[in-house]
Amino acid sequence: EKEKTLAMIKPDGLLGNYTDKIKMIILESGFSILKEVMVQLDEDNAKHFYTEHSGRNFFPSLIKFMTSGPVIPMVLEKENAVADWRALIGPTDARKAKLSHPQSIRAMCGSATERNCVHGSDSPKAASREISFFFPDMLPGQDIPIH
Ligand code: CMP
Repeated sequence: EKEKTLAMIKPDGLLGNYTDKIKMIILESGFSILKEVMVQLDEDNAKHFYTEHSGRNFFPSLIKFMTSGPVIPMVLEKENAVADWRALIGPTDARKAKLSHPQSIRAMCGSATERNCVHGSDSPKAASREISFFFPDMLPGQDIPIH
């Protein structure tokens, strides 16, 4: 059974010109890219997207970072997409990723806990909320890969 997840290239990923490399890895790993858009988040957008972290000490810094430049949210689809995308990106802290998961995407393009170049939904429930956040018009049957 196919599953969808929300992947996002963060401002540091775009700034470092990792977009094409990341998309290549996504496709080579068996995901279909169903939707993709480049957007500049404002403070309100970022606060809503990361609302579950609103009480954390790193929240203000995270919002500043996520609004510092454009991001590329994407809807990925494959079997077990949520867990497989999380495995492919590696640990949240990119410095740890470089040591323990050197083949991961965050090891390749991230540099710290916050500047970790990509996001991945942490559960199917989060995936469905995050997909609706960026692609509110996406319908259940809308599953034609754009790449
Ligand atoms: P992400 O997977 O997008 O989910 C929440 C983000 O908050 C995370 O990646 C990091 O960018 C950031 N983050 C999580 N924990 C910390 C932390 N302890 N310090 C700074 N940023 C964090």
